[in-house]
Amino acid sequence: MAMLTDQVVLITGGSTGIGRATALICAAEGANIVIADVQDAAGAETVAAIEQAGGRAEYQHCDVGDFAAVEALVAAIASRHGRLDGAFNNAGIEGPTAKILDLDPADWDRVIRVNLSGVYHCMKAEIAQMVEQERGGSIVSTASAAGLIGIPGAAGYNSAKHGVVGLTKTVALEYASRNIRVNAVCPGFIETPMLDRVTEASVKIREQMIGATPMRRVAQPSEIGDAVAWLLSAKSSYVTGVALPVDGGWVAQ
Ligand SMILES: NC(=O)c1ccc[n+]([C@@H]2O[C@H](COP(=O)([O-])OP(=O)(O)OC[C@H]3O[C@@H](n4cnc5c(N)ncnc54)[C@H](O)[C@@H]3O)[C@@H](O)[C@H]2O)c1
Repeated sequence: MAMLTDQVVLITGGSTGIGRATALICAAEGANIVIADVQDAAGAETVAAIEQAGGRAEYQHCDVGDFAAVEALVAAIASRHGRLDGAFNNAGIEGPTAKILDLDPADWDRVIRVNLSGVYHCMKAEIAQMVEQERGGSIVSTASAAGLIGIPGAAGYNSAKHGVVGLTKTVALEYASRNIRVNAVCPGFIETPMLDRVTEASVKIREQMIGATPMRRVAQPSEIGDAVAWLLSAKSSYVTGVALPVDGGWVAQ
């Protein structure tokens, strides 16, 4: 039996990378997927790939940093599908690699806006809908191993991802009694366009990442998608407030 049969699932940042892989997996598990992103052409391509595999998906342009746009997105899903069962708040950007003295306040603001405020905006709109429909729900957000440990040179990104972990635990406690589960995944190094951008400066960075990972490899985005599909599904029905590392053992060290 498929894990997400007929569930209505929103995936932000679903045009590429981890979000795209998760959308394909959740659609194969029977979910009706709504992808929200700012890369419209890639979003349309992901929808086409899901449909080609026999799944159901649609694309909506939405900048998660804009609360009004996120509210409108969730309202449109509710009016079209009658409900929202699950959400994967995954949209994110990498910040510059710079120690705090070289970290420009504008870059700090940009990363916090998308990676932390974006998750707050999504959770707020999603929870409002889930409370109203009175059938519970499951929310998963993408934090990072960088949300669990400090990494020099990424103060904005690390602070945003630590914030996502704190937000996840707090909102999980606030809505546990309404059967709305709220969890986070904390990926290590995953083969996506973001990793390509971060490592394009030198092959040495990639080698260092692999060297720092006990399993001695980067992961495929579907390895995050499998964990997210489980967290979205009733298979994890008693799991809430968790920040789950999916990182080849990195933060266990
Ligand atoms: N790749 C890794 O190694 C890794 C590790 C830990 C955490 N993460 C996190 O995983 C998530 C997905 O990243 P990815 O690696 O798949 O990279 P990616 O760049 O392939 O995907 C990010 C997606 O988010 C979208 N996006 C960016 N800003 C947006 C906005 N304002 N509104 C809506 N969508 C927006 C992008 O268009 C893109 O489709 C991010 O939150 C990232 O921080 C990635």
